[in-house]
Amino acid sequence: MEVDAIVKKMTLEEKAHIVEGVGFWWTQDFPELSVPKIQVSDGPHGLRKMDIVPGKEEMSTITAVCFPAACATACSFDTELMEEMGHDLGKECQAEDVAVLLGPAVNIKRSPLCGRNFEYISEDPYVAGKMSTAMIRGVQAEGIGTSIKHFAANNQEYERMYSSAEVDERTLREIYLPAFEMAIKEAQPWTVMCSYNKINGVYSSENPWLLKQVLRDEWGFDGLVMSDWGAVGDRVKGVAAGLDLEMPGSNGTNVKRICKAVQDGTLSEEDLDTAVTNVLRLIDRFYAAKHEETFVREADHAKAADVARECIVLLKNDGKVLPLSGEEKVALIGGFAENPRYQGGGSSHIESFRVVSALSLAERYGSFTYNRGFSDTKDEIEEELQTEALAAAGEADKIVVFAGLPESFESESYDREHMQLPACQNHLIEQLIKTGKPVVVVLHNGAPVELPWADSVAGIVEAYLGGEGVGEAVMDVLYGKVNPSGKLAESFPIKLSDNPSYLNFPGAAHKINYAEGLFVGYRYYDTKQMAVRFPFGYGLSYTEFRYSNLRVSRESFTAEEGVTVSVDVTNIGDRAGKEIVQLYVADRTGSTIRPVHELKGFCKLALEPGETKTAQFVLDKRAFAWYDVEQGDWYAANGAYTIEVGRSSRDIEYTVEVRIIGSKEKPPLIDMDVQLGELLGSPYTREFTLELIKKYLSRFGPENGEVDAMTEAVIRFMPIHSMRSFMPITNEEIEEICEALKKHVESQL
Ligand code: BGC
Repeated sequence: MEVDAIVKKMTLEEKAHIVEGVGFWWTQDFPELSVPKIQVSDGPHGLRKMDIVPGKEEMSTITAVCFPAACATACSFDTELMEEMGHDLGKECQAEDVAVLLGPAVNIKRSPLCGRNFEYISEDPYVAGKMSTAMIRGVQAEGIGTSIKHFAANNQEYERMYSSAEVDERTLREIYLPAFEMAIKEAQPWTVMCSYNKINGVYSSENPWLLKQVLRDEWGFDGLVMSDWGAVGDRVKGVAAGLDLEMPGSNGTNVKRICKAVQDGTLSEEDLDTAVTNVLRLIDRFYAAKHEETFVREADHAKAADVARECIVLLKNDGKVLPLSGEEKVALIGGFAENPRYQGGGSSHIESFRVVSALSLAERYGSFTYNRGFSDTKDEIEEELQTEALAAAGEADKIVVFAGLPESFESESYDREHMQLPACQNHLIEQLIKTGKPVVVVLHNGAPVELPWADSVAGIVEAYLGGEGVGEAVMDVLYGKVNPSGKLAESFPIKLSDNPSYLNFPGAAHKINYAEGLFVGYRYYDTKQMAVRFPFGYGLSYTEFRYSNLRVSRESFTAEEGVTVSVDVTNIGDRAGKEIVQLYVADRTGSTIRPVHELKGFCKLALEPGETKTAQFVLDKRAFAWYDVEQGDWYAANGAYTIEVGRSSRDIEYTVEVRIIGSKEKPPLIDMDVQLGELLGSPYTREFTLELIKKYLSRFGPENGEVDAMTEAVIRFMPIHSMRSFMPITNEEIEEICEALKKHVESQL
């Protein structure tokens, strides 16, 4: 497609038309200009394509394979697996004529209550970045676009279309933006979807700082920005700010607005042309890569179950209660055994191809009884169900309870009100514990729940929302056909009020104060040394791993050189398994406030019994740096950092200290408010300032010219403008000093 030539031929009205969708899922076509339309579809973990479905009168959602949701896939920490899943989804799109899959969704899990956490990846930006990058690569290798969403700071559903996320720039840069940044720099998604909310008072859809400066100028994004569905307020401002495509359409009402704005000069035609060009390029990209594709739903279902097998997290296994043996008599209890919770509500909801429950497979695994025990849709104790379940449990060797959140608890558009499981489930679990039989709880939930009975049950298996094959995966893990290898991509606080956003969630007066700043998830719990139910990165296996021989390629290096870290991991148990090795960096330089440590690498190793493999991590400047708003850049201060390698954020096996050298020291910002301590603390200004102070102090008499340690401590927090109150010095002299300091610093840069 000759994009530039088409733009030149288009009338103003045609241009205004093509920058908005048609219906919910299509772009505008212009046959006379040879511009076809394209269709987009949710996303992220399966196709929710609208189409004419045989036997139905209206447009309906096609049947598709529901892969595990991101809350689950994140726990695999397996980027290759994510890429493979991306290929499968891409192939389905290609066969179904869908140009863009609306995902991945990478918003950070700030509060466990966010109704959409099940669709999001992690509380950690590095994990969210790596996993989404892999998925984008997979989908796009099939000639299909992705739409990384929701850009940005959309971390709750409450008032999501209106409220303003009040976040300081450093927190945005270090927590809420890096997953987008990494995916854009490393995988170039074809599109980005802006979020509904405002950021510091400006709607994302009208935010030139976000959509132009950060996204395009700094990160080099060259694709299309589309709105979230209905996220457009002032469309004219949006075009000027870099929002290319409004989704869905506005029924033409914004077409008129755009035309008028160009005609009266409020919107430059150049800005409109940029948006038009980006839409046409997207259409062109799809048709240029379009090819015949087929896929077999059966095969993709099997794949979805395989992915689920890699995601399950074994949280507790006292006395090796698991795996179950085929000989034991097992009481299966809980409606989720029969009707698994495997996906969340809202735009990602799939018309699933085939949902397999654990119960439907139980016969193949061993001897069992099944009782619902409680309703899986409402929170009400049903005495009869409970009595039957307790009776069956009394006859069994082991009890496996399928607990979790009913579907209505977790959905797009609203947040949870609390972090508890339905009381009827907790009640029955407590009763079952009293039987004295070992109890294993399998959880089906999209986000952490409080587990008041955690210390009294023998086993806990976190299945999350594991997609339509979750039943197959759970049974394989319970009976040891699969050795669980997932680890948590989020912390499980003991109770909701432990969460750092608790006091400011969901906000008030249409503002959400991100007062906890950088201290999200484990960055808070670990820095605060607070007990958690299960830490970030935690998960057990049926085998055991030994770590040894941590080594670094060099002990001191410049930030640009970086360092390579390796550790050997040996499977010392008697069955094959996989270990997710994690690397955290702790800044010891004291250059600013930082979390006690941050994840900067992970690696999943598959190991046969007795086998040893090496996990290797390459750390670059970003692994050590923080975002310095004053300099508008990433900064890794000179000094000591501890590299920690371990099994979870709370289970560090080895540490090694390294040093960064050669980073350009940051000069102090010179104005009348700069403090003497800042000047004395910087190699740029120390000698100069000492001379000054000596000079002015000696005006009191020659014996006063010395600056000893105590004097230095006393004047440390004194801004230079206040020197006049303590030294014989005039305002004019201070102004001269300020200018001289500026020149002195500049001469050294
Ligand atoms: C959601 C998006 C989704 C879109 C289209 C919106 O409400 O926030 O994630 O892609 O609808 O269904």
